[in-house]
Amino acid sequence: MEKKSNTKLRIVHKNDYRFLFNLLKERESFMNISHKKMPTFSEHVKFVRSKPYTKWYIIENGKKKVGSIYLSKQDEIGIFIKKNERQKDIGNSALELIMKKNPRERFLANINPKNKKSITFFQKNNFKLIQYTYEINSD
Ligand SMILES: CC(C)(COP(=O)(O)OP(=O)(O)OC[C@H]1O[C@@H](n2cnc3c(N)ncnc32)[C@H](O)[C@@H]1OP(=O)(O)O)[C@@H](O)C(=O)NCCC(=O)NCCS
Repeated sequence: MEKKSNTKLRIVHKNDYRFLFNLLKERESFMNISHKKMPTFSEHVKFVRSKPYTKWYIIENGKKKVGSIYLSKQDEIGIFIKKNERQKDIGNSALELIMKKNPRERFLANINPKNKKSITFFQKNNFKLIQYTYEINSD
C-alpha cells in the first residue's frame, strides 16, 4: 500500500543554519554519542559549512521544516525530528527516502544504548545490532 506522506528531503542551505542550531538545542546528551557539548552559533555554522557529511537534508512536511537527516562519509545515517513532530510517521518516511536517494550495499546507525526510542525506531526499520563500541575519554 502506498503511504500518504507529505515528507520530503531537501539539501541543507544557508537559510537552514538557525533551524539546525535550534534542533541541536533540543537534543539531550544521551541521544548522541559524539556530540556532548552545545557549540556556539558560529561554531555550528562553521561545522555545517565544512560539509561534514556526504548528504545533509532538511526534512520537510508540507512546507514546514520538521527535522534533519544525514548520510555520513561512512554510510551512517543520523536523524533528528523536532519534538512536537514525532510519532507522525515522518521518521519512517525520511529514513526510507534517504536510502532510496542514496543506494548503498548497507547503511549504519550509531545509537546510544540509552536511547531506547531510537533503538525501537531503527529495529522497526529492519536495522540489526552488529557491535557495541566502548570508549575512554578525559571528560
Ligand atoms: C527516533 C526518531 C527519529 C523517530 O522519529 P519519528 O518521526 O517520531 O518516528 P515515526 O513516527 O516514523 O515512528 C517510527 C517507528 O518508531 C517507533 N517509535 C517512534 N517513537 C517512539 C517512541 N517515542 N517510543 C517507542 N517507539 C517509538 C514507533 O513504534 C514507530 O513504529 P511503527 O512504524 O510501527 O508505528 C525521533 O524520535 C527523534 O528524532 N529522536 C531524537 C533524535 C534521535 O535520537 N535520533 C537517533 C540518533 S541518530
